[in-house]
Amino acid sequence: MDFEKFCRENCVERKGTGTLKWDSLQEVFGDADLLPLWVADMEIQSPPSAREAMQKRIEHGTFGYGKVTDDYYEAFFGWQKKHHGVELTKENVRFATGVVGSLYAAVRAYTQPDASVVICPPVYYPFYDAILNTGRKLVTCELDDNDGYFTLDLDKFDKTIAESKASMFILCSPHNPVCRVWTEKELEGMFEVCRKHGVLVVSDEIHQDFTYNKEHPFVSSALVGGGKYKDMLILLNSGSKTFNLAGLIHSHVIIFDQKLMETYDAYIKSIGSPEVNLMGVVGMGAAFRGGEEWFKNVKALICHNYDYMKQAFAKDAPKIVLTPLEGTYLSWMDLRGYMDGKEVADFIQKKCRLACDVGEWFSFTGHGFVRINLATDTKYIKTAVERIITNLKEL
Ligand SMILES: Cc1ncc(COP(=O)(O)O)c(C=O)c1O
Repeated sequence: MDFEKFCRENCVERKGTGTLKWDSLQEVFGDADLLPLWVADMEIQSPPSAREAMQKRIEHGTFGYGKVTDDYYEAFFGWQKKHHGVELTKENVRFATGVVGSLYAAVRAYTQPDASVVICPPVYYPFYDAILNTGRKLVTCELDDNDGYFTLDLDKFDKTIAESKASMFILCSPHNPVCRVWTEKELEGMFEVCRKHGVLVVSDEIHQDFTYNKEHPFVSSALVGGGKYKDMLILLNSGSKTFNLAGLIHSHVIIFDQKLMETYDAYIKSIGSPEVNLMGVVGMGAAFRGGEEWFKNVKALICHNYDYMKQAFAKDAPKIVLTPLEGTYLSWMDLRGYMDGKEVADFIQKKCRLACDVGEWFSFTGHGFVRINLATDTKYIKTAVERIITNLKEL
């Protein structure tokens, strides 16, 4: 594949278009002039099928209340079955305005106000917010860092849950930011511990499509152990990462157990949650239907960007520990071979002039790590890598 050509034809300038990633640098980093590699969305235009369907809808010119069409269900269910082997029915699915919002909803719907909720840092920082902003007790069980490869110690996990009497575990699968695609065995280990202690699992599977090795596939929590944990599962996903449609604010809540679904429905009724987003249904449905070829190319570009970074660091900054990219499109690197962990955030922003998510956003003890979004034009990855290497040499 000609990656330069692909980027030329598919990547667009986003600055000045009301984009969180490019236009919030002043507010978030105090500096508008950084190269942004933080927010998990892409500079790549969404699949043609999605754009065409939305254009057609705009031509139609009415934007009254939408509904989820049979076409949508068919396309979404087809994607889930084909890519992940998960079979869904309408009864299992509800719609929401984002996975993060659904984390809050799950915490509120299923736990008591004084409950403890467990997460495994380093992990996507809104997980902390969903626990703390709902007034629940935050319980952390840090992953183990084995020279850049992250794993969960099940004994520690068991002890943490037992001691905190936690009632919910929020799982990130695949795990942002440590690039792990949990194996079925690992998931089964986690779920057995949860089962033993009566802990409900909320499985955030938004990155499910981003895996890079057929030998190491994503396994949905719904399929673990032949589906035997479905009765303790709230599964969240969306095509928003897959097709770069996050701004459409459209996602899925999947619940197999009837009682759990009744509780969810009652909670949603109690807060008068909004109807589904019209463009979410139109755009994401069309992406599930016609976006597969586009998606293959995007994954190839992500691999290309990762390989470029890996080779450049191996050659010119060998003390950077770059985590293997099993899943997600977010690279994760440890710069503590070059400086004290507490200096890394400043180094990346002030010296390298990059806007990145840094380790301490994901874990209280995460200083020293940097997350770089790979789903972008290769020219930005090259710039970032070059700035990191040059500035490390000047230390
Ligand atoms: C693990 C994870 N969950 C959820 C989200 C955001 O989901 P949404 O935009 O649907 O709220 C992200 C975005 O980066 C993510 O990485």
